[in-house]
Amino acid sequence: MKRQVAENVWWVGKIDWELRKFHGSEYSTHRGSSYNSYLVREAKTVLIDTVWLPFAKEYVDNLDSEVGLANIDFIVQNHAEIDHSGALPELLRRRPGLPIYCTANGVKVIKGHYHQDWDFRVVKTGDSIDIGNGKKLVFIEAPMLHWPDSMFTYLAGGAVLFPNDAFGQHYASELLFNDLVDQAELKEECVKYYANILTPFSALVAKKIAEVVALNVPVDVIAPSHGIIWRKDPLQIVTQYAAWAADYQEDRVAILYDSMWDGTRKLAEAIAQGIAQSSPCTAVVVHNVAKTDKNDVITDVFRSKAILAGSPTVNKGILNAMAGIMEEIKGLHFKGKKAASFGCSGWSGEAPKLLGQLLGEAGFAVEGEGFSCTWEPDAAALDKARDFGRDFAGKL
Ligand code: FEO
Repeated sequence: MKRQVAENVWWVGKIDWELRKFHGSEYSTHRGSSYNSYLVREAKTVLIDTVWLPFAKEYVDNLDSEVGLANIDFIVQNHAEIDHSGALPELLRRRPGLPIYCTANGVKVIKGHYHQDWDFRVVKTGDSIDIGNGKKLVFIEAPMLHWPDSMFTYLAGGAVLFPNDAFGQHYASELLFNDLVDQAELKEECVKYYANILTPFSALVAKKIAEVVALNVPVDVIAPSHGIIWRKDPLQIVTQYAAWAADYQEDRVAILYDSMWDGTRKLAEAIAQGIAQSSPCTAVVVHNVAKTDKNDVITDVFRSKAILAGSPTVNKGILNAMAGIMEEIKGLHFKGKKAASFGCSGWSGEAPKLLGQLLGEAGFAVEGEGFSCTWEPDAAALDKARDFGRDFAGKL
């Protein structure tokens, strides 16, 4: 069902209530998601982005019955990842010859996925298309936000920004607009989305925000390609992105660990107690990374000013859940955060040193050699772990 977003602008996308994993199994979507496609109806009728492949037929059928495929003049494909371009084959099969406006990299991505020579019209930053009634579409390339082909489209005369993935959230809701949904849920999904997808591109985010602000154009609505649409104080999400892009951190410490026989878990909890004693206002979160959703763990790392990583030693190495999350953390290029390591062992005891190395390689300022404990921690060892937590908190 199409829904009105602004004057002559309609949402024609798909809400995916049952989605629980996105990007394969890389991103958990506890609250589902949506694939937002928009229709701008002026003298020209323009479709901005489509939906994910499994919903292609339903989407094109709806477009046909509600709009009429013959009435669409062209497509703007802001970004060609399959969740937004997946309906192109079905749409072009039923409406051959429909022009597709996208970046030069967009042509490569679409051809790479669908192997078709459709009618591509390459646009670059500053290009515009007059769509009649005093309105035009203006294009702003946004390479690596988050793919090389990404771009924003601005509806001049309508004050609507279509930034595709930027400013989105994986959040299914029939309420459609930011002022109608639960604000705590919305904030949670926004920060998770930024932390897990956009963190490595923070420098580009800051630069792109400065570029868009310098255009000095009115923005009444920000209509991303996932989740709700920003119509009440729409620039709040831009301001929030600028803060997140500036090496964001809260007065928060995340302790990540895995454990075989609970020794390393006990150390994690004792270290948390030590931090709390030394710095009572610091929020301390403790995650067994083998049991906690990894995207939620990453969100806590993003929000924290420091992290501690713990593992027992097994086969002279660390447990695989810790190895997995450390690989994820390394790829996200967090900046300006401190770290330390810890772990129990029976004999060789390499884990704290190895974790310290991994934290350093991931860009954290590593404090000390880490905390080691042989065999099961007794009361004295737990006291030392609390001291370690207190010392660590004192260095933050
Ligand atoms: Fe929502 Fe990068 O696709």
